[in-house]
Amino acid sequence: MASPRGEFSSRLGFIMAAAGSAVGLGNIWGFPTQAASNGGAAFLLVYLILAFTLAYPVLMAELIIGRHAHANAVNALRLISPNRVTRRIGTATGITGFIVASFILSFYAIVAGWMLAHCVAAVSELFRFNGLAEWLTEFSFARNLGFMLIFMALTVGIISEGVQQGIERWSSRLMPMLLISLVLLVLYVFTLEGAMDGLRVYLLPDFERALAPDLILNALGAAFFSLSLGVGTMLIYGSYISDRENLPVVGGLVTLVDICIAVLAGFLVLPAMYVALHNGVEIFTATGELISEDTLIFNVLPRLFDTMGLAGVVVSLLFFFLMSIAALTSSISMLEVPVAYTIEEHGVGRKRAVVVIGTLIAIASTVILLNFEALFGLVVAATTRYSQPLLGFVFCVYVGWIWHRDQLLQEVRKGSDRVEHGLFWKIWPGYVRVVCPVIILLIFAQSLLG
Ligand code: PFF
Repeated sequence: MASPRGEFSSRLGFIMAAAGSAVGLGNIWGFPTQAASNGGAAFLLVYLILAFTLAYPVLMAELIIGRHAHANAVNALRLISPNRVTRRIGTATGITGFIVASFILSFYAIVAGWMLAHCVAAVSELFRFNGLAEWLTEFSFARNLGFMLIFMALTVGIISEGVQQGIERWSSRLMPMLLISLVLLVLYVFTLEGAMDGLRVYLLPDFERALAPDLILNALGAAFFSLSLGVGTMLIYGSYISDRENLPVVGGLVTLVDICIAVLAGFLVLPAMYVALHNGVEIFTATGELISEDTLIFNVLPRLFDTMGLAGVVVSLLFFFLMSIAALTSSISMLEVPVAYTIEEHGVGRKRAVVVIGTLIAIASTVILLNFEALFGLVVAATTRYSQPLLGFVFCVYVGWIWHRDQLLQEVRKGSDRVEHGLFWKIWPGYVRVVCPVIILLIFAQSLLG
């Protein structure tokens, strides 16, 4: 028995939720650090091109299928399939998508837990509980497990409230906070000595590095990860949009918000690194590369905050608060994928589905924590670098080759009846049919061969 489905109450509600899903650790952490070590502005350019030419069309494919079916990915792909074989492949794709979404959440919750721990550490420092602050910022199994569980509990709490009361309400509250904290931090860092050097590194392109095949695959993975594609997240959010909405426009707005926040985060992280250098903190590795990824966020930046006295504690609090919010609005969208499937396929109540699935994912996170060295990087690469683009490829094939074109047009026309005369309909269908799948495969082939 299918349960009554939720729906976003307004266009803004949807944009907040979808942008909340898209804007996450990928934007504020992943993008700036990758740009830093991969040719600065040249990486930015490759990323922007891939985001608009590949990620946006795939986002549209997911939103359109989702709204047409008003169902989870498994049912939706089945619905647009004309025969048994495509129905089976659709079912397999949808199920793979929700498994991948669950594994992404299993590592994301660990990293988000670190962010929460650093946020609480800044508060403890303000109240001079220095021992506690030290424990909170050190890598230990107990801390990692505890904060992963707290983060999962927050995610479970929001998702159990449903689409409007949970996802929409919390995304609409948290996203403005995120933007305000980010802008405040950028403005503050710009006033510090050394910031302009970082800005130069961010904005001066080094094209030789940006065109390396591996880098393009990384940028593709980053763009897909950043827009939450391939796993059915955007499809399920699309299934909660009202038929009155103009999908190409709202999809475009979500892409734009996502890219703008990533670019804005670059204006924070790169200058902050050079402020750290100016304050005597090492920001280069032994081989002369810029320190990136976790070492940057959990070593370089905290050491920078340490050099800034009381202001540093406040900045640290704001920074890790920002990271935690960004992570939370994304993690809820990941959890919604398996939850929606379980509710709709198996007639289970929302609260029960959320608790059971949340517990299973927390167990997976615990297993990763117990075998951190062996599993963490593996799960990240398998899910984000390979699975997301490949699943995105399948969505393109469904929209471009399998779904009947008249039905597709009817769906897109729902919120915009003159759509077939516009630019979107002239370019997009051929684009998802041929260009997107070919480019995704080419980038893969190149990276496998090279
Ligand atoms: N888009 C999120 C980020 O940039 O951090 C990550 C993400 C969210 C990936 C939801 C996948 C997903 F289904």
